[in-house]
Amino acid sequence: DRVEIPYEALGGEAVLSKLVHTFYGYVSQHPDLAPLFPDDLSETKRKQIQFLTQFLGGPSLYTNEHGHPMLRARHMPFVITSVQAEAWLDCMKKAMDDCQIEKNIREYMLNRLTMTAHHMVNHQA
Ligand code: HEM
Repeated sequence: DRVEIPYEALGGEAVLSKLVHTFYGYVSQHPDLAPLFPDDLSETKRKQIQFLTQFLGGPSLYTNEHGHPMLRARHMPFVITSVQAEAWLDCMKKAMDDCQIEKNIREYMLNRLTMTAHHMVNHQA
């Protein structure tokens, strides 16, 4: 038996791309998140697909183009409290529902994304 990488378990590029597009659809409607983001989310989506590809063990698309992710530093220009972290995770859960992400990979991703989202908190609520 070979161990499947999370990127493959999710369904690769096709599923990740659908998930990210669905996710930013929710982000752009969320009152606690939308004001932080640009109106045109195409570049945001492109970078997030690159980042999540490598986060899940796929090719290092993000680092190849942008260097080390340094995610916490890159989020410092934005005021992020636990309210935004929970809102971000809620949008991701809704997108995962819509895209019918399989239970095991969903749980694996949400565990890691929950830690990452809380790591981005840079202000008190
Ligand atoms: C960029 C907000 C959590 C990954 C951004 C941007 C905002 C933002 C406003 C800039 C968008 C742009 O100008 O295009 C938030 C908020 C979060 C959060 C409010 C709540 C905790 C996360 C998490 C991840 C993540 C959990 C990773 C799984 C990224 C990436 C970028 C980004 C890869 C692009 C960085 C770049 O410019 O190269 N985020 N984010 N974010 N975010 Fe988040």
